[in-house]
Amino acid sequence: MRIKDLKKEKNAIILAHNYVRPEIQDIADFVGDSLELALKASKVDADLILFCGVDFMAETIAILNPSKKVLVPDIATCSLAQMLDTDSLLDYKKLYPDAKVVLYINTLAKHKIYADAICTSSNAPEIVDSMDSDKVLFGPDINLARYVANKTSKEIIPVPRYGFCSTHYQITINDLSTAVKKHPNAEIVVHPECTEDIQKKADVIASTSGIIRYCKRSNKEEFLIGTEIGLIHRLKREMPDKEFYMISKFSVCPSMKIHTLDKIERALKTEIINVTIDKNIASKAVIPIKRMIEITSN
Ligand code: 13P
Repeated sequence: MRIKDLKKEKNAIILAHNYVRPEIQDIADFVGDSLELALKASKVDADLILFCGVDFMAETIAILNPSKKVLVPDIATCSLAQMLDTDSLLDYKKLYPDAKVVLYINTLAKHKIYADAICTSSNAPEIVDSMDSDKVLFGPDINLARYVANKTSKEIIPVPRYGFCSTHYQITINDLSTAVKKHPNAEIVVHPECTEDIQKKADVIASTSGIIRYCKRSNKEEFLIGTEIGLIHRLKREMPDKEFYMISKFSVCPSMKIHTLDKIERALKTEIINVTIDKNIASKAVIPIKRMIEITSN
């Protein structure tokens, strides 16, 4: 049975992140960045949610939908989320008892329970500014932490000392100068997980969907894109008259590419792999996630 029929039979909805394979983006009911996915997940009207993306996103969707079945086509791990360990987080909390804790959504539920609020790349400065403390523990992405530090008067304390997304981290300044030489008229639009030297040269820094929105608004016709390659599909589909070039052709997240149409069909048929979260953890992790949603919706 095909995906469309299975979806209808099971009253299922397919949500996907901007980085998944193009053919999955084309059949998904909704494709977005981490914030859009969390917002969408908070008002889903379906019995079953099939999510294509990485582990922390699937967890967030399951936490926001405790009564619904959440499935993933395969197990996709975000290496950035793995860089935060419980011991260092608790050590930092002890070291800075007056600091509030803002954790990037790219963290596992077992760590979200220690956060005062969660943030994504599209609302991080806003969430940090809403904290009633001068110091904010922020993790695990050091580059997003630096981006936020430049936009807020609060003291940002990165935890751990050096967490990063390897897909963005490997985009080098050499890649950028080569790309600029090739496309001198292109605007440089990058994700805040890119390193600080790339961010400094960028015309715009935005979340994945923020990049799409910006390119639509811009009068320019050519763009150098500094994020995972999966975003190019939506950029080209939604703006067929504009040109998009990857700053580095190596910006591929292997975990996002693990999902395939065959695996989606199998998941809908068999209803495995289920995303389950310990009830005690889920009931605590939902608090800082909802705080983010509340702050962002105001
Ligand atoms: P966005 O929220 O910008 O889509 O980012 C998700 C992510 O994991 C980037 O690597």
